[in-house]
Amino acid sequence: MSDTIYDLVVIGSGPGGYVAAIRAGQLGFNTACIERYPILGGVCLNVGCIPSKALLDSSEHFHNAKHAFAAHGIKAEVSLDLPTMMKRKDQVVFELTRGVGTLFKKNKVTPIQGVARLVSPTEIEVKGDAGTQRIKTRRILIATGSKPIALPGVPYDGKRIVHSTDALSLPEVPKKMIVIGAGAIGLELGSVWMRLGAEVTVLEFMDRPVAGMDKRSGELLKRALEKQGMKFRFKASAKSAVVKGKQVEVTVAEGDKTTTETCDVLLVAVGRRAYTDGLGAKELGIAMDEKGRVKVDAHYQTSVPGIWAIGDCTPGPMLAHKAEEEGIAAVEMMAGQPGHVAYHCIPNVVYTWPELAGVGVTEEEAAEKGLQVNVGMFPFLANGRAKAMGERDGQVKIIADAKTDRIVGAHIIGPRASDLIAELAFAMEMGAAAEDVARSVHAHPTLPEAVKEAALAVAKRAIHI
Ligand code: FAD
Ligand code: NAI
Repeated sequence: MSDTIYDLVVIGSGPGGYVAAIRAGQLGFNTACIERYPILGGVCLNVGCIPSKALLDSSEHFHNAKHAFAAHGIKAEVSLDLPTMMKRKDQVVFELTRGVGTLFKKNKVTPIQGVARLVSPTEIEVKGDAGTQRIKTRRILIATGSKPIALPGVPYDGKRIVHSTDALSLPEVPKKMIVIGAGAIGLELGSVWMRLGAEVTVLEFMDRPVAGMDKRSGELLKRALEKQGMKFRFKASAKSAVVKGKQVEVTVAEGDKTTTETCDVLLVAVGRRAYTDGLGAKELGIAMDEKGRVKVDAHYQTSVPGIWAIGDCTPGPMLAHKAEEEGIAAVEMMAGQPGHVAYHCIPNVVYTWPELAGVGVTEEEAAEKGLQVNVGMFPFLANGRAKAMGERDGQVKIIADAKTDRIVGAHIIGPRASDLIAELAFAMEMGAAAEDVARSVHAHPTLPEAVKEAALAVAKRAIHI
């Protein structure tokens, strides 16, 4: 055992863990971060947010070159070089994951490779490439993230029946792909392969895609994706699937009906589960909820003093920025500072095209809660910049408290909704009223003007519609 006693050991180097470790370094904690893989960055950087966005951007270029350039007066002969597209994605991942190592050096965080197991609140066993070691620490932060859920009767084989990780590196474009689950992963990776030429059918349990998000925006997204060729079957799922040669035979259950469909690749994207396998958390008496997530209090402390937890392995939305903010807040509170996460202002984005983004309550939730609200909407069809770009689909919707005019929710479907939602998340965090957004000067001609117009529309005084 080494003589070092760390102030904090973070287990997991995903966006929750590595950001927490950096913040701890900044605050003067002698910090180590244990990661089972030799490459830092967790799911998000290696097999999640980053590679999926790299492929979304590349496939969007391909799709536009084939289908949108002509309208701009550009003639192009286009063909796909999938290995180069994949290499570019891998390079993006390589540079960003290497960057985490550089940031660790800068902030004096010690990376330790290996699988961590809790021995006590002050001791961790690490089995890595360099053998087994015991680490001593004053505090432990669990940031072990999540793994894909498997569907009973639909066993992953990594080639034909795949989860998101495999779907980021398919060796060729499938002719036919079936996706189970119309959530973020299903729609994003379904979009990637559809744009590259696959015929994509999505099976979804619920009666609409991304059911947790704004209903109308979800409908508009479904329509836009259908226009691009994606097929949806709602209230449907797969009962079982078997690989037969180069095909997958999928038994699809739709109401009382059962049919058999075939495809080259079946992507299962029905959610993720907290990952604490082999961590020894239960053995140490750390309380878990019914979904196997680590229970924490408002200070991210687990039921065992001296051990904290954040990110995907704890309750709440499984989002990188949620994990990051929790990591920072947890460490700041350990240092006696007032760490804080505004859970009602966490944006959620689906990076399809058009993009879908939301923050705060939806109209449906406002009605359920009996909130009196005013709603302002503005379509991109009436926005000068969107028109110049050739983007006609989508709208901005702002929901404001009827009495105070404070923004309580915002939902955008349209071009760069992912970037546009930031203004409204910030407005909500600052307790701004729709009037505040409506009165602030927005550059012309820009997409954010649609946000301003939706804010004006809350008081029924939009100018351009
Ligand atoms: P993780 O990123 O899961 O990291 C946990 C780390 O802990 C892993 O590296 C793991 O190896 C390590 N670990 C686990 N157990 C041990 C152990 N015992 N010892 C040592 N190390 C251990 N979110 C967004 O906000 N935006 C997106 O665009 C987005 N896109 C996504 C796309 C895909 C395809 C997927 C799968 C997810 C996406 N997400 C996105 C979700 C996002 O990746 C997660 O919310 C985020 O990674 C959670 O961060 P985390 O730090 O909690 O855990
Ligand atoms: P998800 O929870 O977002 O969506 C799963 C979908 O599958 C839901 O619509 C659900 O109704 C459906 N479903 C569940 N069981 C089913 C079944 N048996 N048959 C048919 N449909 C079924 O989960 P997803 O897409 O797997 O993503 C996992 C996590 O990763 C999410 O929590 C998400 O937040 C995160 N993520 C975030 C992204 C982003 O922020 N852009 C991108 C990708 C993932």
